[in-house]
This record gives sequence, structure tokens and C-alpha cells, in this order.
Amino acid sequence: MKLRVAMMFALALGFCGAANAAGEIIIKFSHVVAPDTPKGKAAERFKLLAEKLTHGKVKVEVYPNSQLYKDREEIEALQSGAVQMLAPSLSKFGPMGAREFELFDLPFLFPNQEALHRVMDGEVGKKLFAKLEAKGVTGLAFWDNGFKQMSSNKPMHAVADFSGLKMRIQSSKVLSAQMKALGANPQVMAFSEVYTALQQGVVDGTENPVSNFYTQKMNEVQKHMTLSNHGYLGYAVIVNKAFWDGLPADIRSELMQAMREATAYERDIAQKDNDDALAKVITARTTTVYQLTPAERAEWQKTLQPLQKEFESVIGADLIQSANATAAQVAREQAAKAKK
Ligand code: LMR
Repeated sequence: MKLRVAMMFALALGFCGAANAAGEIIIKFSHVVAPDTPKGKAAERFKLLAEKLTHGKVKVEVYPNSQLYKDREEIEALQSGAVQMLAPSLSKFGPMGAREFELFDLPFLFPNQEALHRVMDGEVGKKLFAKLEAKGVTGLAFWDNGFKQMSSNKPMHAVADFSGLKMRIQSSKVLSAQMKALGANPQVMAFSEVYTALQQGVVDGTENPVSNFYTQKMNEVQKHMTLSNHGYLGYAVIVNKAFWDGLPADIRSELMQAMREATAYERDIAQKDNDDALAKVITARTTTVYQLTPAERAEWQKTLQPLQKEFESVIGADLIQSANATAAQVAREQAAKAKK
């Protein structure tokens, strides 16, 4: 009987690899960060909710810390169906041919989380997910990490301090241009290799939200951190399209419900995780933490502003304009609220 159910599932899925002998649908969810991060915790929360809401018909296996695949390989693994679900950072969609996602890498474009969420959850987010379909990928949700901070073994206050620094970046042309504009030498590298590269001096520094910095123990190998909030790091939760489309409709809708709840949870904890991680970095005393002054921040901002124009043809002037308009709208609303 069990076998028959299993076969029915496999047939319904049109995708034999996705159901095991017990008839459970298996979702392999691979990611590159530690379990104790916003993404790591939300992946576990999704597993819990998905298994509960589907009454055990779906089993989610979470593989953290690049255990299965590094950055680039995991996207290939998703497209080939070796894994079913990922949540890569928005800076890693370029190599897949979806450079528009680099909108979120533009420095100082988003003033706060509220503006980001409106852009992700609105028309821009829909357009970005639509781009993925032709690549055999379906987008389910946007998850937060937070604003990035710079780190290196030298203090970074003025733009001139970046001169000649080798900075690790994710695989994004915008991030490469950002580091070059600051006078640094960008080096694309998989997340799993960053700690060793910093330790061995292959690169001098990097940028990441503090939760990633601390959970990868980068504070052991970076003497300085500048709280700059110059850019954002978030994620798109994506699935293999053939797998997703092949699921029975009721299961798909239960999984979507699980994803909505996991997303609300993720967005709720992300900022606190970063605040807690910063407190731990300060307590560890291995990294000097510096807060940019408004004047220094203005210098960084002025240096990096031209990137918006430079990347119009790659990202789309409409997407950049729309993000700017949303940011301005949020600022107006917040100012009006503060007056009340
Ligand atoms: C990085 O490579 O720095 C980040 O994208 C890692 C992550 O997934 O948060």
C-alpha cells in the first residue's frame, strides 16, 4: 500500500527523485551560512512548519554551512534538481543571468528595512521573480539579513583608507564596482572560503552583516569593523521550477503557507540577530568597532552615488527609479509620523 502511495506521488510529481520509498516528498534545502543566523533559523522554522502543515507528507532536509554546495555550485544543483530549495543572497543571481537582482547591492539606495520590504513585496519583487522562471527557477519569498558593515585589518574611516585593500566580495558586478570606486581591489570568493582567506592574508577585508561576521568567527581575523550600513544583504528563497510545478496543488499551497509564516518569523528576528552579534563582537574585543561620522558617511555616499547611473543599463532604470521613489515615499511617511 505504502509503495503504491509512493509511486502515485512520484508520478504526480513527474519527478521521481523527489519522493522517497515511504512516499514522503523530500525537499533538500541547502544554504551556506551557520544554523544560528537569520537564514539558518528560518530554514529550520520552514522545515518545522512544512512538515506540520503537510501532515508529514513533505520532509525537509536542511543542509547549512555549505555542507553540500558552495555558492555557485548550489545554484547549479538547484537547476539540475540535485536540491529543491535554496536561499542565496540577492548578490549571487548575476552568474545565473539575472543581473537585475543587483539592484539590492546598490550602495545607500535603501535607507531602512521598511523601504526594502516595500520594494521586495511590490512590483519590483514580482518582476525579479518573473525573470527566474525561464531559468527553471521559481521565487517564493524574500528574506532579510540586514545592512552590511565593512571589516579589514586597517581602520576604514575616510574613502582614502580603502586604497589598495583587497576586499572579498560576492559574485556581483555592482559590488565589484563599489569596491573599485572606493579604491579597493575586489575579489570574488565563495562564502565558505572567506575565513581562511582572511586568516592567510589572501584578502585584507570584507563586508557582511554582523550576524554572518560573528557566526563565521571573522572577528578572530579582522582587527577593524566600520559600522557603515552602506549596503544591504538579503535573500530570495527559490525552488526548482519543475519540482514545484509538479507538486499536488494542495501540498503546494500548504508549503506556501509554511513559507509565509517562516518569512514573517525571519524578518522579525533578523535585526535582533545582527544587534546581538554586534554586542558579542564588542565583548570579544578582538575587533575595534568604529561608527562612521555623518561627514564620513556623506563622503562614502558621494563616492558611490554614480553607481546608480552606471548600472542603469544592467539593472534597469525603471527598477532603480522605482526603488528611489519608494525610499522617498517611506521617508515622507516617517517624517509625517514623527511630526504627529
Ligand atoms: C556572503 O557570501 O557573504 C553571503 O551571501 C552569505 C549569506 O548567504 O548570507
